[in-house]
Amino acid sequence: MWLAALNYWVCPACRGSLTLAESINTEGNQVLQGTLKCSACATLYPIIRGVPRLLPSNATADLLTGAAYKHFFDSVAPSGSAGDDVLYGNTLSDEITDFLKKTGLSSLAALQGALILDAGCGIGRIDGALAEHAGGVLAFDITPAVEQAFVAWKDRPTVHIAQASMTAIPIADGTIDLAWCDGVLPYVSDFEQSLRELLRTRAVNGRLYTWSYDEIITLKERIGRGFHNLNVPMRLRYPAMLGVATVLSSAASVYRRKNLVKNAPHFAQGMYDWSLATGVNHVTVGKVRSLVGTIPDSQVSNNGRRVEIRIGL
Ligand SMILES: C[S@@+](CC[C@H](N)C(=O)[O-])C[C@H]1O[C@@H](n2cnc3c(N)ncnc32)[C@H](O)[C@@H]1O
Ligand SMILES: [Zn+2]
Repeated sequence: MWLAALNYWVCPACRGSLTLAESINTEGNQVLQGTLKCSACATLYPIIRGVPRLLPSNATADLLTGAAYKHFFDSVAPSGSAGDDVLYGNTLSDEITDFLKKTGLSSLAALQGALILDAGCGIGRIDGALAEHAGGVLAFDITPAVEQAFVAWKDRPTVHIAQASMTAIPIADGTIDLAWCDGVLPYVSDFEQSLRELLRTRAVNGRLYTWSYDEIITLKERIGRGFHNLNVPMRLRYPAMLGVATVLSSAASVYRRKNLVKNAPHFAQGMYDWSLATGVNHVTVGKVRSLVGTIPDSQVSNNGRRVEIRIGL
């Protein structure tokens, strides 16, 4: 954790400012191990392996989801945040293209000087690229796999990584110029609270992109949730799903006379992803519109089984 991160992170319980109460291991301007203290409510938050753990006290369900995602990222992206694994069917360069497409920005240069939030960043693969143009990148996730993002972008003084929850975002009101929250709201324990939190941190004229699933439940989701409900051990889950996906794609290859076996890892990753969270949120456009309210330049729309929210984009 860079010392400069104390300009951004606040107490998730009361949003008081944080001070460095104890510094056990440092490296230049970074604290690798220590303790943060809230100047208002005196709650202590540890910094472990360079990452401040800014977790609310009632995060049990979200932490279970985060722990499952650690297994997921370790299995499907073993080379880490700066590696060239294919994650969700995307290489890193595909992820950047996807970011530009969903935000409608012409290029990353359009981020010039902005304070970006990558909310639910996972292993934070795009954060290094965002930091090349942005004024600062704040990235957090409930999964301990955020440590991979810290390791990957450790030398970038404008990238700040934390372990935190969408349900109590440790950022002051009206701070963020552009919030990016991709594939996260479906898995949070409290959808309404998490969306309120995202909206709260938005600066005046700040931009936001996020989504959750609409009401349709697909076969892939049913299979994934079946694995979750059966509590299939995490170390067996991906190999088992890869086996199922390989058999199904081999059968489909024969049927369609086209080699579809190469798609098996992507198919398996999708099933695996569905099996991780404690619950999955399905929402309607009407419900989300009522939560977003009358923010100028905001759009809520249904796009391919997703209810998307765009503000200022
Ligand atoms: C499908 S992954 C998407 C990760 C990343 N945004 C990406 O696009 O690669 C979902 C992420 O949501 C995170 N997540 C789930 N519940 C969360 C919560 N309450 N607070 C923060 N992150 C959460 C998971 O840990 C996981 O990293
Ligand atoms: Zn506090």
